[in-house]
Amino acid sequence: MKIVIIGATSGIGKALFKRYANEKNRIGIIGRRKHLLDELRKQYPKNTITATADITNLEETMQAIDVLLKELGHFDLAIICSGTGEINATLDFLVERPTIYTNVVGWTFVIDTLYHIFEQQGYGHLVAITSAGGLRGEPMAPAYSATKAYQINYMEALRKKAYKSGCRITITDIRPGLVDTAMAKGEGLFWVMPVEKVASQITSAICRKKSKAYVTKRWHLLAVINRNLPFTLYKRM
Ligand SMILES: NC(=O)c1ccc[n+]([C@@H]2O[C@H](COP(=O)([O-])OP(=O)(O)OC[C@H]3O[C@@H](n4cnc5c(N)ncnc54)[C@H](OP(=O)(O)O)[C@@H]3O)[C@@H](O)[C@H]2O)c1
Repeated sequence: MKIVIIGATSGIGKALFKRYANEKNRIGIIGRRKHLLDELRKQYPKNTITATADITNLEETMQAIDVLLKELGHFDLAIICSGTGEINATLDFLVERPTIYTNVVGWTFVIDTLYHIFEQQGYGHLVAITSAGGLRGEPMAPAYSATKAYQINYMEALRKKAYKSGCRITITDIRPGLVDTAMAKGEGLFWVMPVEKVASQITSAICRKKSKAYVTKRWHLLAVINRNLPFTLYKRM
């Protein structure tokens, strides 16, 4: 398979890279931290192509995707892991802004660009790591929860679009609970899952071409409860 992973330098993206980096696959990886991309390439030099880009810089991102597409020839699978978010209980807009630029503006540009590539190819599998945190508004991190809700709805829109157009494009929305990476911020966190276990369940969901998957599976239960909880109860939690 020819695979592209955007946001592969750490956490979930890096764990997915390691799972896919074998002789069956050629992988293009994107992120801002070039030294980390170079480290990954050194581990699997024959199979890995790197391109540095900040997804909030649309021109740079377009160039990076172009470089990978030229090298690989086509993409079978594209996984968008890039994301950010901060605790921001005081509603400091300067804290919210990078989250909105990354998770909404840059993310949409990446998703749309890859969708168009798949449309031209006539096939492809588009995967985004959204979040179980996108199911409800969270006052400790309002922009993060709101941008993840945006991503969840956007993925549904693309799934419906692909279905209506008859395109052989698969859309998979991966919704992690808490995962043991730099992104898991705040106090009193619970059910923080090891990144390797999460990556294993993500590759399994991708392999089965699932429309959406909560990872790890126990987070599905919590997500259902959380989503259906009346606001009168939710507001007290
Ligand atoms: N950890 C959790 O508990 C959790 C839960 C639910 C959902 N998620 C989601 O999972 C995804 C991956 O996060 P993670 O947990 O693996 O955390 P992480 O280790 O911080 O990974 C974030 C990745 O996003 C990339 N990234 C961030 N801003 C970027 C930008 N402007 N341009 C390009 N790449 C950018 C980072 O690469 P560079 O810094 O090198 O650019 C890094 O590879 C995120 O979308 C996050 O929202 C995480």
